Amino acid sequence: MAHQDVFGYDVTLSNTAAIEPWNSTIQAFLAHGASTPVHLTQTLEAAPDFALAHTAKGFFMMLLGRKELVETAREAHTEATRLMSGGATPRERAYLAALTLYLSGDMQGSAGALNRLIQTWPRDSLAMKIAQAILFVLGDGAEMRRSVESVLHAYGADHPHAPYIKGCHAFALEETGDYLAAEARGRDAVLRARDDAWGVHAVAHVFDMTNRTREGVTWLANQPDTWAHCNNFRYHVWWHLALFYLDQGDYAEVLRLYDTEIRADHTDDYRDISNGASLLVRLELEGVDVGARWEELAHICANRTDDGCVVFADLHYMLALSNGDAHGKACQLLQAMKGSAKRGATTMDAVSAQAGVPAAEGLIRFAHGDYANAYRSLVSARPVMQRVGGSHAQRDVFERLTIDAALRAGMLGEARGLIDDRARTRGALDGYAERRLSRIGAFESAMAASL
Ligand SMILES: [Fe+2]
Repeated sequence: MAHQDVFGYDVTLSNTAAIEPWNSTIQAFLAHGASTPVHLTQTLEAAPDFALAHTAKGFFMMLLGRKELVETAREAHTEATRLMSGGATPRERAYLAALTLYLSGDMQGSAGALNRLIQTWPRDSLAMKIAQAILFVLGDGAEMRRSVESVLHAYGADHPHAPYIKGCHAFALEETGDYLAAEARGRDAVLRARDDAWGVHAVAHVFDMTNRTREGVTWLANQPDTWAHCNNFRYHVWWHLALFYLDQGDYAEVLRLYDTEIRADHTDDYRDISNGASLLVRLELEGVDVGARWEELAHICANRTDDGCVVFADLHYMLALSNGDAHGKACQLLQAMKGSAKRGATTMDAVSAQAGVPAAEGLIRFAHGDYANAYRSLVSARPVMQRVGGSHAQRDVFERLTIDAALRAGMLGEARGLIDDRARTRGALDGYAERRLSRIGAFESAMAASL
């Protein structure tokens, strides 16, 4: 039987009691809310025959980027397929087709299918947000922007999720370098929806990329309530606050945030591992002793060597393993990545071949102190590193390692070139770059004086 969801579009379900928790599922997903799975469970309890909810579950499982959840996603897909054989709307079938592509390993195809879906049903913020999430994993900021901008017209004042699309737009603007517009969009989003954690986060990205670290601290430290409701995304927002303190040289505060917020829970979600590992790298590059923190991450990552779902995740597992005295496991992970690259069957296999394997080899070499070869590996992957996914801010850990590898190998000209190139993308020099340029200048002056 057809009922209508929060967008006013038809959905096929037998029990109208499922509509309210379904709408809450969508709202919570847009806000990165920890309650998303709770609402989805309530939806499926009220209407076990609701195929679209099973499809959404499949997407949510896939987006977690964990090998063991792919089977759960397949089961949800199978159930949705069975239920839709008894009748479904064209929109529901379009969702299922997009999930089919995701499960086949064609992430770009899946995002494309969702993009086509929202051209026909532009008010569907769930499909819009899932498309944004997949494109984020692909590191495709330009397509994130094209996708969200293609449906802005449908998010007038009457749309209940209008603020959240502004938050998505803000982030896409930031990732494509339009920092002024991104900041305005993000601030507006948060004014309209206090729980728009993605909008808050988008503005933090602007402050990071444009070296406005004091404003960044003020922006985040004064409104932790805007992400307190979040799932593990809240750790990531704390990570952004730590980045601002890092740039200012307040390493004690960075370590305090690491222990009390970012890694307060020793989770094994790949996004949480990436927050931790990339922060420890950044601290060590500034000469900070991080104690036994690598070992905690390495212990967890030792169980993820054959995951292979997301190259971005693999590279952060590699950071943890190669810095946390787990070199055997690091080699095991590298072999798994090479196997994926050789198979070449999925989007992630291609990313592994192009960027993942050379970058991973560079990370291992850096950890072993083989800086010249680390530089060569990392710099060979650099032109395509965006394909490993995540944001500019997240991938900056690989930029820093490439620059520091060049510096430690005595390749001052190469290091300076990378710093200049990095500053052009970011929009400003930051503390990290200024400290390196200062070192290069001091070395060159000393060399000139000795001649
Ligand atoms: Fe971020």
